[in-house]
Amino acid sequence: MSNDTNHAQSTVTVPSAGVQPFVPSPETFNPAASPEATAVWNDVVAPKYAHHERVMVASATEHSDAVWNDIPTSIPHAIDVGCGFGDTSERLARTSQHVTAIDCSSPLLSRAISRHGNVTNLEFVLADAGNYAPRRPAQLCFSRFGLMFFERPVQTLKHLRSWLEPGASFATLVWRSREENPWLELARQAVLEVLPPVDDGAPSCGPGPFSMSEPAVVLAQLRAAGFRSANLEPVDGNANLGASVDEAADFQLALGPAGEIVRHAQKQGHCDLTAARARVCNALAPFVTRHGVVLPSASWWVTARA
Ligand SMILES: C[S@@+](CC[C@H](N)C(=O)[O-])C[C@H]1O[C@@H](n2cnc3c(N)ncnc32)[C@H](O)[C@@H]1O
Repeated sequence: MSNDTNHAQSTVTVPSAGVQPFVPSPETFNPAASPEATAVWNDVVAPKYAHHERVMVASATEHSDAVWNDIPTSIPHAIDVGCGFGDTSERLARTSQHVTAIDCSSPLLSRAISRHGNVTNLEFVLADAGNYAPRRPAQLCFSRFGLMFFERPVQTLKHLRSWLEPGASFATLVWRSREENPWLELARQAVLEVLPPVDDGAPSCGPGPFSMSEPAVVLAQLRAAGFRSANLEPVDGNANLGASVDEAADFQLALGPAGEIVRHAQKQGHCDLTAARARVCNALAPFVTRHGVVLPSASWWVTARA
């Protein structure tokens, strides 16, 4: 998966016999995640995701639940891009004949298989979205918070479009701006009071969760990739970060933008974790409810046609 001539995939479950190979136009093949970014997903993010699985899944599910009725059903083939733990893949498989769920992170995909590997019309594939070739065209390309990490967004979106039948649906959730997502932003600001910002060029999982937050940019990217009828609708939710401020701080110091700052400061050998935790706890304290520590989250529901 490291260059544009290598687009082999590890197919974890095998589709039914007799399916014709389908190969998108070869000039669009190019990995969307660098080897460094994939290594961050595998070695840094995945173990922390596993530990904070409940918060990760619940915060994303609020948003997908709000739009799920808009998703086409009774279609022959849907592809879930950046499927992570595979929960949306399993849900798509309830109403589609076949679902291909792809992710570039082996440990995350293993977790998806352990959760949903028994679903017979769901095929998990270890692949970079930019290098993947489905065996047959799809009628839906879906992603829940999986596209904002593409290093070549327009080229990769063009590649995703090439998987689809003309007129087929493209549908994705992406986070709105940092300011509209205090569930991640408040902790980022809090740790920056005591820790240095991440250096440009430091290893990361790609452009990051807010790279598709600007509607005009997303519309221009989709247009340049050849999609039509693009539309963005706001979705508002609440992220429950844990039962207590301490639990919520554990999540923030491990993952998301605050977690990234902590990780880099630790690498550079000047991380005052006690001070960072105190700032984060202070920032989160006003959001304690009887259900836990709950902060607003905001996404765009982006739809288009191939
Ligand atoms: C924020 S997670 C979202 C996971 C899942 N869709 C969900 O909503 O729970 C982003 C996922 O995209 C995957 N990913 C990032 N870049 C990718 C790429 N170029 N190709 C395939 N998957 C990618 C990551 O490994 C990760 O599982």
